[in-house]
Amino acid sequence: MPTPNWETIVKRNILMNPGPVNVTDKVRDAQLRGDLCHREPEFSELMRSIRHKLVQAFNIEQEYTAILITGSGTAALEMAVSSCLAPGRSMLVIQNGVYGERIGKMADVYRMDKCVLTYSWGELPRLEAIEDTLKNDPSIEVVAMVHHETTTGLLNPLPEIAALAQKYDKRLVVDCVSSLGGDIINLAEYPIDFVVGTANKCIHGLPGVSFVLHRKKDLCRVEDIPARSIYFNLADHHKAQEQGDTLFTPAVQAHYAFDAALDELIEETVKKRIARYRRTAERLRKGFEEIGLELLIPEGRRSNCLTALKLPDGISYPWLHDRLKENGFIIYAGQGLFNNKIFRIANMGDIRNEEFEKFLKVLKECFVTTRKAGE
Ligand SMILES: Cc1ncc(COP(=O)(O)O)c(C=O)c1O
Repeated sequence: MPTPNWETIVKRNILMNPGPVNVTDKVRDAQLRGDLCHREPEFSELMRSIRHKLVQAFNIEQEYTAILITGSGTAALEMAVSSCLAPGRSMLVIQNGVYGERIGKMADVYRMDKCVLTYSWGELPRLEAIEDTLKNDPSIEVVAMVHHETTTGLLNPLPEIAALAQKYDKRLVVDCVSSLGGDIINLAEYPIDFVVGTANKCIHGLPGVSFVLHRKKDLCRVEDIPARSIYFNLADHHKAQEQGDTLFTPAVQAHYAFDAALDELIEETVKKRIARYRRTAERLRKGFEEIGLELLIPEGRRSNCLTALKLPDGISYPWLHDRLKENGFIIYAGQGLFNNKIFRIANMGDIRNEEFEKFLKVLKECFVTTRKAGE
């Protein structure tokens, strides 16, 4: 096989951070569809198209409705969390990383009653503890969790927790911001009442628009919950969007790009994209192991979308980051207590196989260079 000309391949920054992601030219160019007022019928049509394509892509047209919000993934998460709990009831929050803890903080900001099960970062939540809590605390109405905890690359046991939520008749809110489109979420088998997602991770859109996929049969309950927020009230957004209207000024150009990204997802199919992500993650992990790097999360618990790696002794994250950036690759630091202990490599977005190969080659060179210098 001829060796590719690496120099001509890397002409752009390859984003191996977990969003925003590299997008196709078609998605990027869609932003230039034209200036548009959000009160015109063309924007209603664009919104209708995105909402429809979302439920179409995930094959959930019958059961779910999509509610859009201008903002990052956290905006959609806040819309779900602030809107899901009836007054006087409480929320069970499962935390084992930055994003689970963020749900807990949101519940505090909105002065919601909550009960928390906290685990170390990278540790799996214990199902018996979750079941005990649900069995013994009738005040709990909602269970909230993260699917792919991006802090560590751990995939939380969503099917099992969803089964428990169903068994005890609890509503389920799941932050799927970094897994929807990249890891399996079987909504037909284990329904989630609020699926929180964003345009600019595994769906390959641009930052600025996020969404909640909400089970239609729960809409009446949510409509009865008094609003806790002006911007983030899910029922109000839903009502407006059903009428082709939008509450506030949306990020119009991000919506154009999102619509184009959904066309590409539907063409590829969610199933095939997940399979592609899995193959890429496996290829990268094989390469990491060949370089001698240690993975943080054991096999079988890793997401398809991101790998957390331990920083070898004697290598600082800023040094590694800067060497890779000089070669056109952007990687991601460990957060909080993992700062300068791990680094993270995401494989989301429009990145070609030869670019992943080039990345492994450059990464290997970084470590060979330092090993030689240390000899
Ligand atoms: C699991 C998860 N939830 C929420 C967020 C927050 O998303 P955003 O930064 O788009 O607000 C992220 C971001 O990486 C994430 O990985």
